[in-house]
Amino acid sequence: MNTGCVIILLISLLPGIIIAQSQRDVAEDDEYRSAMAHLEDIERTYQRKYILTAENVENNLYIPQFDSKTGNYRTSLELETPPPPLLVQEVIPLLETAASQNHSEAAVTLADLFMFGNFSLPPDYKKAKQYYEKALSIAPNGHAYFMLGFIYSTGMFGEFEADPERGNLYYQFAMENGDINALLVLAYRNLKGIVVPQDCEMALPIYSKLASIGLHWISNWNHPNEVSYNIRISDFNGGIFGEKLSETSSSIKMRSRVYADLKQSFEETKLNANDHEYVSLYYDGVGHMMGDYFVSRNLTKAFLKFQQCVELGEEIYGANDYKNVGSIDRMYLSSCQTHLARMYFKGVSVPRNVAKAEHYYNMSLKVQATPEVLNDLAVIEEEGLLKKANYSRAVELYASAVAKKSPEANKNLAKLMMKIYGDDLSANAHRSEVYKHMKDAAYLGDTEALFYMGRFLESGLAASADPAEQITCSKTVMYYREFVKRLSRFFTPHLKYAFEELKCGNYKNSLVGYSIAAEQGFEPAQVSAAYLLYQLQPLSEATKVFAVSRVKNAMKYLDGASRQANVDATILLGSLLAGEDPKAQIETDPERAFSYFRLAADRHSSYGAYKLAEMYENGLGPVNNTTDYYLAKRYYDQSLQYREKFDFDRSVTLNKGSLNKAHISWAMLRLRFKYLFNRKAFKNNQMENSSDSWLNAFKKIGKKSPNKEKDFESREHNSRADAHHLGGTHEHDYVESYDLGDYLVIALTFVFFSIFFFQNVLRQVRQIRNGRPLAANQNREAAGAGGARGNENGEQNWGWNGNQFNFRRGNFEFHFFAI
Ligand SMILES: *[C@@H]1O[C@H](CO)[C@@H](O)[C@H](O)[C@H]1NC(C)=O
Ligand SMILES: *[C@@H]1O[C@H](CO)[C@@H](O)[C@H](O)[C@H]1NC(C)=O
Ligand SMILES: *[C@@H]1O[C@H](CO)[C@@H](O)[C@H](O)[C@H]1NC(C)=O
Ligand SMILES: *[C@@H]1O[C@H](CO)[C@@H](O)[C@H](O)[C@H]1NC(C)=O
Ligand SMILES: *[C@@H]1O[C@H](CO)[C@@H](O)[C@H](O)[C@H]1NC(C)=O
Ligand SMILES: *[C@@H]1O[C@H](CO)[C@@H](O)[C@H](O)[C@H]1NC(C)=O
Ligand SMILES: *[C@@H]1O[C@H](CO)[C@@H](O)[C@H](O)[C@H]1NC(C)=O
Ligand SMILES: *[C@@H]1O[C@H](CO)[C@@H](O)[C@H](O)[C@H]1NC(C)=O
Repeated sequence: MNTGCVIILLISLLPGIIIAQSQRDVAEDDEYRSAMAHLEDIERTYQRKYILTAENVENNLYIPQFDSKTGNYRTSLELETPPPPLLVQEVIPLLETAASQNHSEAAVTLADLFMFGNFSLPPDYKKAKQYYEKALSIAPNGHAYFMLGFIYSTGMFGEFEADPERGNLYYQFAMENGDINALLVLAYRNLKGIVVPQDCEMALPIYSKLASIGLHWISNWNHPNEVSYNIRISDFNGGIFGEKLSETSSSIKMRSRVYADLKQSFEETKLNANDHEYVSLYYDGVGHMMGDYFVSRNLTKAFLKFQQCVELGEEIYGANDYKNVGSIDRMYLSSCQTHLARMYFKGVSVPRNVAKAEHYYNMSLKVQATPEVLNDLAVIEEEGLLKKANYSRAVELYASAVAKKSPEANKNLAKLMMKIYGDDLSANAHRSEVYKHMKDAAYLGDTEALFYMGRFLESGLAASADPAEQITCSKTVMYYREFVKRLSRFFTPHLKYAFEELKCGNYKNSLVGYSIAAEQGFEPAQVSAAYLLYQLQPLSEATKVFAVSRVKNAMKYLDGASRQANVDATILLGSLLAGEDPKAQIETDPERAFSYFRLAADRHSSYGAYKLAEMYENGLGPVNNTTDYYLAKRYYDQSLQYREKFDFDRSVTLNKGSLNKAHISWAMLRLRFKYLFNRKAFKNNQMENSSDSWLNAFKKIGKKSPNKEKDFESREHNSRADAHHLGGTHEHDYVESYDLGDYLVIALTFVFFSIFFFQNVLRQVRQIRNGRPLAANQNREAAGAGGARGNENGEQNWGWNGNQFNFRRGNFEFHFFAI
């Protein structure tokens, strides 16, 4: 009886309990949902204020002093925009309530807001960390794990104690919970041996998985040519060391500006306003289609321009069936037609219309058969978009596009052959053909082909297709990695976020974005993050100081970039370790500095060889206080050689000014004088004989040919230096004493040179009518002869480095003298 009552009571209460429970869920959800609705409103109305624009960014990217008290960069107050009141007064309290009621997504959203500082909300990393932890206490969440991994790995640059091991553990959890960002980090760490032991076999499956994800994305993606934000922000200032010394090629492509410039230079040279109107329309069109970091793309405008271009062509040449078109017009008109057709074909900015696309492709064929047109027509045939699919016709068309070196056609042909003859390459009689086409596609620059190449290598099919091919884990990973890198728009949305924040002057937020991508192993992001933490520019600012923990983090990223063959990063690391910048407050370690310079020199860096020579000259690093002028000379020579080669390459590819050579010539001169005035000291050291033979050689050269033979001469030097370097003894028969006559020659040459030089200086001064900086600069050169300081200073706008003094002859004189 009693028990019956209790049961009945319970049964009648149970629905009530359940209803109460679900009502609470709804209530929590209500708060979360209304917060999210508000966030959408804010997103729609929020206006950003940019301080960087396309006009002012070049050579002008200035990173303010970081203030460790406020934990932020010192920006001027009027630039700061307050966050929207709706965000602070509504959204955050709502989210806080929801989070306190154990709503996991609310906690994550809140944490993200504090982490990324969306909508100018001042970031608060402590709160962010708390809310990520809160979210995890409710339910596992890949993103929250990842962000905690990031927080522990970096310590947020001094905000927390960094704990790389723990960070790694969180990354691992994030990966297990399906976070793509964590996949990237762990793949990179395993590949390069960061925190975990280096193991390519561990990295491979992760890269393989990433590549599959990327392939899935790419196949639903019809916006090629999107702006890539995978850039080094230091390149806006000409590179880590500025324009005259940096050797890594720039990652920045201001595409819209390039097209505008091309158009302008074309318009300036044409005679008649109506001449070649296609050219202007074409450049306008591609300009709008590409956009860049500051100008967003407008595909509608691009479409209109291309349409205008094509209609003009139809009007003028259509009746005549496109005969007698001039060669310039032919090129541009067919490009316009191709672009227009493609927009119809892919349904970009207009509804997809294959028939119309084919119409324009056909028109373009009459003007000029471009590989793109042939490829696209083949795709139409292959997929049977207009009539029944005809593979043999498609293969024909692909083959004609392949003959014109079309990367896409190579890939499509390989894929079609796989479709016809079977996916299983090992049973495919045409496998070597398939493999060859895919490889060509990858080498010609097709992105998707990289994925297939990786697959072929990984599955071992490459071996059967091409027995000569060496298959290694690192090679397979290389293909996958490059594939992932090309899809940085998809894999690293943080890069775009970082750049947008940089444009607004939110350096702190920008750093978060870049360092996430840096953790993931994107080399440009590593340099950008390092640049936000520590930067050389502007050199004049003596008051800037850097906290040690931040410089250490910068060095970590620079090391990552250095491992990925960024030679400027290698040299900067060496300079930091050599203690060249007292502002960085880094413990000097000449041995490590030496090995970085050595690495840079081995990678044929002129500046690296120069630094190495300097170390030999001053007896730093593993050489233990013994100066070695012989090797110093050798590396200065090398430095000069590399620089000349570099200049040559650069002048071939783009019309850019040559790099700075004066510091090398100056160092050589210095070395000579050190010998002259300090010969006794040199006699005491072990290099006595080699020095003699070097001077001897110098004398000979001086007498023989002050002329163009320099390259040859220095090669001779090098081989001699090599013998020395390898411990071989070289002939003593050079040994002669160095007599008065030689001093005379040198002195006279020097006097001659000085006169020449000062004449130049005077002329220059008269030209610029600005005498003051000259003395300063010269002093600096003289005093700073000992090192990078001098060169780096010289690299500012003024000075013999900066302006080159227009003195080809002077330089030549210098070189002659330096030999
Ligand atoms: C949230 O979860 C924690 C731990 O699971 C629990 O102690 C707390 O009572 C929960 N709070 C609410 C409002 O449900
Ligand atoms: C805040 O910005 C980050 C980075 O762009 C983004 O991932 C996140 O979704 C944003 N959060 C909100 C609530 O908009
Ligand atoms: C693109 O240009 C068209 C026409 O000038 C304009 O109406 C449209 O708002 C622009 N779109 C964007 C995203 O700027
Ligand atoms: C394009 O040319 C092909 C072959 O010349 C023809 O079969 C097709 O009908 C043409 N398409 C259009 C839309 O004119
Ligand atoms: C497919 O194309 C080939 C080559 O152009 C042609 O010879 C063949 O008749 C076509 N087949 C069909 C079914 O149209
Ligand atoms: C320099 O000194 C260190 C220890 O002082 C020694 O290990 C090293 O071999 C020396 N190097 C040379 C080139 O003498
Ligand atoms: C090199 O010289 C410095 C100071 O002249 C001295 O402190 C240092 O111990 C020397 N190093 C070696 C390896 O002899
Ligand atoms: C240097 O030259 C002298 C003769 O001038 C010779 O006796 C000595 O062995 C040479 N030393 C070396 C290291 O070659």
